[in-house]
Amino acid sequence: MSKLFEPIQIRDENIKNRSWVSPMCTYSSEDGMANDWHLVHLGSRAMGGAGLVMMEATAVSPEGRISPWDMGLWKDDHIIPMRKITNFITNSDSTPAIQLAHAGRKASTNRPWSGGGNIDITLGGWEPVAPSKIPFSEKSLIPNELNSNEISNIIDDFVNASQRAIESGFKVIELHFAHGYLIHEFLSPISNSREDSYGGNFDNRTLLAKTIARKVRDAVGDDVPIFARLSVTEYFPGNGWDTNSSIKLSESLKSCGVDLIDCSSGANYSEQKIELKPGYQVGLSEAIKNQVDILTGAVGLITEYEHAEEILNNNQADAIFMAREYLRNPYWALNAEQNKNSWPLQYQRSINL
Ligand SMILES: Cc1cc2nc3c(=O)[nH]c(=O)nc-3n(C[C@H](O)[C@H](O)[C@H](O)COP(=O)(O)O)c2cc1C
Repeated sequence: MSKLFEPIQIRDENIKNRSWVSPMCTYSSEDGMANDWHLVHLGSRAMGGAGLVMMEATAVSPEGRISPWDMGLWKDDHIIPMRKITNFITNSDSTPAIQLAHAGRKASTNRPWSGGGNIDITLGGWEPVAPSKIPFSEKSLIPNELNSNEISNIIDDFVNASQRAIESGFKVIELHFAHGYLIHEFLSPISNSREDSYGGNFDNRTLLAKTIARKVRDAVGDDVPIFARLSVTEYFPGNGWDTNSSIKLSESLKSCGVDLIDCSSGANYSEQKIELKPGYQVGLSEAIKNQVDILTGAVGLITEYEHAEEILNNNQADAIFMAREYLRNPYWALNAEQNKNSWPLQYQRSINL
């Protein structure tokens, strides 16, 4: 029996299998709007058999975008174009999920294919914000330090975006607390040197994450699964954010209503060294799963069916997120499952397995 193709029930959502599309920015929106690119990009992965398809990092405010071309949910106008996508994913028997994000000190950059880097204000850029005036790297902009009113507004932005996500037809909400973006910046002592209730000790640095999780849970009600993506470690050789911090935070997030920790790593320390190899982050998922009574997702260089099965059977994760492999092969799940009946009806008669 395949574990990868076993359904999983999380709150009111029955997800048909555990092969999930990891969020991937495509920098293809104008004014945060979803369009036909996103419909075909995400729709084809839903048609290809993924149990859950996650919309890319979606900004809760215009300043929370990584680039001017990021997806957004900061106004009601964003809802209708999103519905076209969630309807298609749902009608393809997959679960539409969305990652809500604020880029913090990493905001206002150019698209990767235009060379990345900071984007000038005259070309549509803006001043990034962060817990403290600490840039990500020597080349990064020095962010403005958020005051407590601005932090309250960001909490509201996450709550409002989560309500719009539900109105848009998303069935799962993921909070982006990873990769050196705003919430991760608050978590880590290397990017947070505040002296108010959002900085200093562990409880204070995690206050923003916990508040957002609790308020989003209150806003969306009990039926909707909420995930949180963490950089379980940031690979800082010293007093940074590490696996033990993530274990402790995961316990708190569970009590705030989070159902699953999506276990990623890194991207808050510009000198990080990661040994990249298949499943390089699986141990992080395993550590959280062993220590906390919460579901986890594993991600990172998982490309083979047998590897995915092994991770699930070893109880190292409850689901497998894949990013680049799903770019290469949108039909990865259908090909891995080898079950003619899982293919779209329109294709079944013509498929030889
Ligand atoms: C093109 C691209 C865009 C990405 N955008 C996001 C994103 O929006 N949010 C996020 O949390 N991770 C993002 N990631 C990271 C992936 O979700 C994933 O964690 C990472 O690529 C490792 O998985 P993989 O080895 O299966 O690609 C992105 C990765 C790629 C390749």
